[in-house]
Formats: sequence, C-alpha cells, structure tokens
Amino acid sequence: MHAVLHVDVAGRALAVVEPDGAHDPATGRALTGSWLWDSAVVLATHLASARPGTIHGATVLELGAGTGLPGIAAVACLGAARCVLTDVGPLLPGLRANAEVNGLTPAQADVRELRWGEDADLPDCELLPVDVVLMSDVFYDPEEMPAMAATLRRLWRDGTVGWAASEVRCGVQDCVDVLREHGFDVAEVDRVTRPLLRDPTQASDFAVYRVELWRPH
Ligand SMILES: C[S@@+](CC[C@H](N)C(=O)[O-])C[C@H]1O[C@@H](n2cnc3c(N)ncnc32)[C@H](O)[C@@H]1O
Repeated sequence: MHAVLHVDVAGRALAVVEPDGAHDPATGRALTGSWLWDSAVVLATHLASARPGTIHGATVLELGAGTGLPGIAAVACLGAARCVLTDVGPLLPGLRANAEVNGLTPAQADVRELRWGEDADLPDCELLPVDVVLMSDVFYDPEEMPAMAATLRRLWRDGTVGWAASEVRCGVQDCVDVLREHGFDVAEVDRVTRPLLRDPTQASDFAVYRVELWRPH
C-alpha cells in the first residue's frame, strides 16, 4: 500500500505519495527515492520563505527527484511555469502520481529518466533551457559527483541557478568540494535544525546551498 504524507508549503498542503513498489531490479532493494527525505521539505520550505525571484515563471528541473516535492512545490505554490522531474526509471511512475495528485498537468510536470552523466545522447530540446535546478539529498557519494557535474554543465545556460539541500552529515562536504573542483560555486545560504519526519522526537541539521557555474565550458 502506498503511504501518503502531507507537507505544508506556502500555506498549501501538498500530498506526497511514497510508492511501495519501486525497487532496484538488480538488487531487489527499495530505491532510496521511493520515500520523502527531510531535505526535500527543507528545500521546499526554504524556497517558499526566501522566494528567490528566479523561480517565478521559470522552468525548473529537479535532479534525483525521488517523490518530487521541491519541483512540484515550485509549480504548485511558487509560480514556476513548469517542472521537469527526473530520476531513475523505476521511480518515474511515482513521480507522475505525485504530480497528478497535486493537480499538475503533464504540461506543468514533465517526468523523465535522467541518470547523472548519461544524458549526452538526449537532444538539447528534450531538457533545455532550464532556469532553475533543484537537488534534495543528492550530496552523499563523492564518487557520483563528477557524473552529476557533467549533467549539470549540460543543463546550465547563462542565468541558470541551482538550489540544493542536504542533511549535515558525513560526506556532504566532500560532495560539495567535488562540485567546486568541477567549476561550480556552491554557497551555503541557510542552515536549520528541524525535527525528523520519521521520528519527531529527534532533530537534525540541514544546509541549503545556492549553486552557480562560475567556470564556463
Ligand atoms: C536520498 S534520495 C533523495 C530523494 C529526493 N530528492 C528527496 O529528497 O526526497 C537520492 C535520490 O537520488 C537519485 N539518484 C542517485 N544516484 C543517481 C544517479 N546516478 N542518477 C540519477 N538519480 C540518482 C536516487 O534515485 C534518489 O531518488
């Protein structure tokens, strides 16, 4: 059975459906993107309170979207024109369900498979231009970062800006450092302590980053 959570963003309760059938066909293990991570709530909440001017009317692309809360919130609550929600194949039906349950049309929420570093064959018109890139809890494995940086470079154009959120834990800074080595300026713009979704008796620290490309191709 699917679990459904509700998250308040800018005064609107967004539904988050956590699909129970999204497994890695190779390992049989549940995919990490099949449940909502706290960082997604932190990122959506940060964007709702900071209201960066770049979101209104924007095309927003979310990398490693999982259940897609930040990208969906950008359109449903923050005035973005459309979102492109991307992740590995088995998570795409869940992303479509989440967009639909929150009232987004297929024109407002484009759901696509996008594995980091494996986008070279996509024709430009498939994903570009992207104004804003959102990333929630995707900074955990420094070895994945060169592939992510290659994808980010392909998506970036003049004026594109990225926003990311991560729980402050071991490995995050290493990921940030790898992105910096690949030409991205990653600046921590907010840090919050909040109770955990799964165990509100516990709290953790979360960082929000603004990401820009400073070293052109
Ligand atoms: C910790 S989960 C976070 C999910 C979601 N962003 C959230 O915060 O709720 C990490 C996400 O990154 C995706 N991911 C990991 N490696 C990836 C890769 N190489 N290409 C595309 N997505 C990847 C996973 O499938 C998963 O959805």
